Amino acid sequence: MKILFLIILLISSLFALPEEFDKERYENGEKIFENKCSQCHVKSMPIPLLMKNFIEEDNKLLNLKAPTGNEISFRLKQQIGSKDDIEFHLMETTDFVKDYINNPDKAKTICLPGVIRHFDTMPSMKGKISEEEVEEITFFLYFLEGFNGVNKYYEKDEF
Ligand code: HEC
Repeated sequence: MKILFLIILLISSLFALPEEFDKERYENGEKIFENKCSQCHVKSMPIPLLMKNFIEEDNKLLNLKAPTGNEISFRLKQQIGSKDDIEFHLMETTDFVKDYINNPDKAKTICLPGVIRHFDTMPSMKGKISEEEVEEITFFLYFLEGFNGVNKYYEKDEF
């Protein structure tokens, strides 16, 4: 019985969100994302479909205008800073997004070459969005996808 309890505890802790997660902030960030980013960035799409689109179909299947929110979410956490301390990691990823939004340059990309090659550089949003709004959006993006490494498709750098 004890062992069963421990196993359940272990499994639920694998899928639990960290204590830094704040549902209200996440939903607020999601709303701002929908208002200011989603005309180009689709929020989320299944990874196998994205892989098929970008690798096999040359983006002609989905005709995406930009990488999806869940792709950016995973890459942000994977490429920027270190996941060891979530609070600090959130600050590091927020700094990246703030900088990218004001001064976009594909040389700084966190996306894979097989994805980014389909897009022109994002237009700068300087003056069109406040620092606070970017902080809220990044909070949303940070927790959107692949937390706890659950997304097995991203573990292999295939595209
Ligand atoms: C007019 C279209 C457009 C809008 C609006 C837009 N983006 Fe983008 N974004 C792009 C394109 C195209 C790319 C891929 C090319 C690039 O990275 O510059 C991109 C890439 C990105 C990247 C990844 C950068 C990289 O290459 O690693 C981030 C982060 C990002 N956008 C955040 C945002 C956020 C946050 C918003 C809303 C506040 C937003 N974008 C609004 C078009 C847009």
